[in-house]
Amino acid sequence: MCGIVGYVGPKSTVDVLIGGLRRLEYRGYDSAGVSIISPLGGLETRKKAGKLANLEASITEHQLPISHIGIGHTRWATHGAPTDGNAHPHLGGEHQKLSLIHNGIIENFAELKAELVAYGTKFASETDSEVAAHLIAREFDASGDLPTAFATVVNRLHGAFTILVIHEDQPDVVLAARRNAPLVIGLGDGENFLGSDVAAFVEHTKRAISVGQDEIVILRADSVEVRTFDGKPVVSEEFTVDWDASAASKGGWSSFMAKEIADQPQAVADTLMGRIDSDGLVTLEEIDGLDEAAIRSLERIIIVACGTASYAGDIAKYAIEKWARVPVQVELSHEFRYRDPILTRNTLIVAISQSGETMDTLMATRFAKDKGARVLAICNTQGATLARESDAVIYTHAGPEVAVASTKALTAQMTAGYLLALFLAQVRQTLPAIQLSAFGKELLKMPARVTRVLDNLDDVRALGREMSNAKSVLFLGRNVGFPVAMEGALKLKELAYIHAEGFAAGELKHGPIALIEEGQPVIVLVPSPRDAETLQPKVISNIQEIRARGAKVIAIAEEGDTAVSDYAEHVIYIPQSASMFAPILSVIPLQVFALELSTAKGLDVDQPRNLAKSVTVE
Ligand code: AGP
Repeated sequence: MCGIVGYVGPKSTVDVLIGGLRRLEYRGYDSAGVSIISPLGGLETRKKAGKLANLEASITEHQLPISHIGIGHTRWATHGAPTDGNAHPHLGGEHQKLSLIHNGIIENFAELKAELVAYGTKFASETDSEVAAHLIAREFDASGDLPTAFATVVNRLHGAFTILVIHEDQPDVVLAARRNAPLVIGLGDGENFLGSDVAAFVEHTKRAISVGQDEIVILRADSVEVRTFDGKPVVSEEFTVDWDASAASKGGWSSFMAKEIADQPQAVADTLMGRIDSDGLVTLEEIDGLDEAAIRSLERIIIVACGTASYAGDIAKYAIEKWARVPVQVELSHEFRYRDPILTRNTLIVAISQSGETMDTLMATRFAKDKGARVLAICNTQGATLARESDAVIYTHAGPEVAVASTKALTAQMTAGYLLALFLAQVRQTLPAIQLSAFGKELLKMPARVTRVLDNLDDVRALGREMSNAKSVLFLGRNVGFPVAMEGALKLKELAYIHAEGFAAGELKHGPIALIEEGQPVIVLVPSPRDAETLQPKVISNIQEIRARGAKVIAIAEEGDTAVSDYAEHVIYIPQSASMFAPILSVIPLQVFALELSTAKGLDVDQPRNLAKSVTVE
């Protein structure tokens, strides 16, 4: 989730840009850069891998002239490792008079790049963004009209993008375009701003405009014009920012975790982007490293991961076995290599890791490779060690996850697991095309359903606050609900420091039911009653068994399942979906329950005690 700042006005541009980027640091990044246009003419750019301090040191070493127009960017790498060369801004045109910054993914950059290469364009980076810079510069050189050239090119781009451009031949204007990525305008007095969110400029002005889908902004110091991509004027609605700069470090959210929970529709959508075609079939170009013959001859998949990532692995197991008919086992990375597993060339190791730096998982994959197995990574961090050491990588695009407790990375990992399962089923032809297509199209509906879950969480927030004195909470689930129960328990352990345990609901009578006493809180994941062989009645029986022994039951159930309300004290409803996909939705109330309970206890939800975001030691 890159950070973007644009400015035109009387202030020192470099100060405004660096200040804005600093307030956007919470978005996470791995390189940063700025471009300004000197009043004497001439575009100047400084950009560095790493933190803002590296960029500031570069600017100190190579001073930038006083300027009144510029753009700035912090990059979270998606295409191309985090290096000085891949950092934004990117320059366009033979004489490098145009500078561009970009947040998002240009899906059709490869074909556009081929077009430019045919013209003899030379590229300085591996990024999709640089392609847009050269295209716009080329159009401007031909037409002499920057807004027209800009509109022509943005209409050709597919995917998600917020793009800002300046050109030294037009030193009074910043152009911007927005599709499927955030962009806001800051309105000043004799100055105007652009930002990926209001944190970029809230210290200068609280007057703002949200830029809509497929809109272009023509920003000058004394004017702001908004148009649609096809040139029609847009009447924008101004709003006043209702929080101050101090909250800006988290984009106005009370915590990174709260922000990242809210990011989940975008995280799921971005992980799906470009990977399901119009027929609902999955395309996973990035795993070309695993040829189709190898996929057809697969005998076994072993998923290795730790913590929350291992529960994503459990969900993937259900999907892969059900659809692709490949035996799957999920192993905790730190247990896997010490049990001397039997691995063959037809064993595929799938390593799931948000950070890609978890030493337990790295050691497990190195062990497996030494034994001749192939490794596929599901990773959220571009260029991470795990990604670089694997035979193929499916990147999740959840953006940087700053809070120690994993939330949006998990729903993105689940999404990647479903994509892998459908892809394997396609290649191995274990599901009819009509079913594959139906699942693919249903998966595309999940971001909107996640949004609906997020919009209906008042009850679960209240329950979290009410139960802040709970000494223990149990979580029950069946089938794909079982890993969700395990994740719910982990969230509560790591955030509220209380005993919590997840069980397979069917296991109750084999021991755990002895734990049930009067008032014991139990959260139960209830399967959909709509399935032909639904497990819902069995889980209802489990609820009755624990209610009879005094449990206080909170059910997470599917909209329309009215039967469950006769047995549970509280029911949190989630939208209907194919049962296999329900975990993406049912895990969210558990995230929020843990967040609220922890907050009610006055604990630090972003940095829980004893925990690190990435466990880089064994
Ligand atoms: C989850 O909330 C924890 N932060 C932890 O279990 C985490 O999922 C685990 O350490 C794995 O991290 P990774 O995904 O970066 O490998």
